[in-house]
Amino acid sequence: MVGDAFEANWLDLREPVDSESRARPLERLLTQHLRGRERLEITDLGAGTGSNLRHLAPRLTDSRGVQQHWTLLDADTALLSDVPARTRSWAQARGYTVVDQNEGLEITGRAEAPFTLDIAPRQANLQADPLPVARADLVTASALLDLVSRDWLQAFAQRLWEIGAAALIALSYDGHIAWQPQVAGDEEVMRLVNQHQRGEKTFGTALGPDGGAVAAAELEAAGFELETAQTPWRLGPSDQALQQHLHAGWAAAASETAPHRAEAIRAWLERRIDLLESGQGQVTVGHLDVLALPPG
Ligand SMILES: C[S@@+](CC[C@H](N)C(=O)[O-])C[C@H]1O[C@@H](n2cnc3c(N)ncnc32)[C@H](O)[C@@H]1O
Repeated sequence: MVGDAFEANWLDLREPVDSESRARPLERLLTQHLRGRERLEITDLGAGTGSNLRHLAPRLTDSRGVQQHWTLLDADTALLSDVPARTRSWAQARGYTVVDQNEGLEITGRAEAPFTLDIAPRQANLQADPLPVARADLVTASALLDLVSRDWLQAFAQRLWEIGAAALIALSYDGHIAWQPQVAGDEEVMRLVNQHQRGEKTFGTALGPDGGAVAAAELEAAGFELETAQTPWRLGPSDQALQQHLHAGWAAAASETAPHRAEAIRAWLERRIDLLESGQGQVTVGHLDVLALPPG
């Protein structure tokens, strides 16, 4: 979540919590909007190793079944190269049928309803062109908007409007972190993390915690019908590995922002890890999901 390079291990740790946290009502509205289409063109921006696809694909079905064509865009070819293996394991664990294709996979499955999907991973730096596809029924992204700039979101909203696609943008960090129990240093670390988030990232000056709210405002201004939902992570001691990774990342970001506070931040991290190891630490991390539908 901090820094510009994302490790597959970090994306693996967050995948189940992301999936649990996402807003089902927005997904149901989206499925209703897409109902009746036999084939869906779906573009996933900043797809990483494909977690967003694995969450959404079985949920975008209706009773007649639907064929989904997914284009997964990311700047990082190492992450994209993990998509087929991770998605194959995911599909096989659910008893879906998997067939190799040139670039990706074809999966046939039955969730609430039958679906077939094919996957085309494609390397793309989205900074210059926020939506490098000719057409789409749905554009989606997860855990991306803290990285992007206001200019980027304006260009994205305009391009989305031109192609007439819906957008579901999930799990944008919103700047709220609440710990239980609290320890000295929590407020300072949260403030420094949020400051770090607003630094220069791969998309220019990042909006950080404002990304989700600014996206909603820009998409509404462009003419879309908007629905939003708060989708916090609620992590407990059983999320030990994710929490350790998260707290270490926060401490690194906070120290980078305020090097003269590095000692105090290290002491804060030790207190947090001690609490976790004694089975106590809980933390809520705020996120926002945004659904934008072209007016019907
Ligand atoms: C936090 S990860 C989220 C990955 C995935 N959506 C998920 O939920 O697991 C952010 C992703 O954005 C990608 N990314 C960052 N800057 C990018 C850029 N300029 N163009 C394309 N992808 C970018 C990263 O490589 C990374 O995969």
